[in-house]
Amino acid sequence: MTTGAASRPSRIPRGTTSSSTRRRRASRKDEGVPLGQRLAARSELGPDGVTTVKTKRGTLAVGVSNGEPFAVSNVCRHQAAALGVGRVLSDGSLQCPWHCARFDVETGEMVSGPKGRIYGFRPYSKAVEVFANLPPVKLKRYPVVEKDGVIYLRYDVAAGPPGEVGGGRRFPPPESGKAN
Ligand code: FES
Repeated sequence: MTTGAASRPSRIPRGTTSSSTRRRRASRKDEGVPLGQRLAARSELGPDGVTTVKTKRGTLAVGVSNGEPFAVSNVCRHQAAALGVGRVLSDGSLQCPWHCARFDVETGEMVSGPKGRIYGFRPYSKAVEVFANLPPVKLKRYPVVEKDGVIYLRYDVAAGPPGEVGGGRRFPPPESGKAN
């Protein structure tokens, strides 16, 4: 004889929930939440999948990664390039426009240090990565809500205290060479 419990699918062990499941749950939780500041419509993001938006919380890089909207600090932890003028890669990471460091927009971590002839020197690149992932240095993430294709800061964030200030540097990097 089979019991009801035996035919039920096994539970997913705690801590193994996939990121897309977490995001789906989060967006379900956000249903009906009043919207905060409008950030950008998906259609405004362009081919790079990210843009720069000034908010009361500072200037943020706003985009879509793996189909989900995000907002993070705009300042690269290497030499402060504006991440909002970088691009979102096919793996969902946000790539810096100067030396191609890559960030996980879900955790704020630098997942790959700077590249190129000078900054790609492995020990240096790794050291930047370690520094960038220190808790006070890591990219800050800001909760967003999407409605009708438009990305908003969550209302409670928009109304909160000021966050990181600084728009990120847009002029060419000091080493004129482009990253490889
Ligand atoms: S400024 Fe971002 S990788 Fe160098």
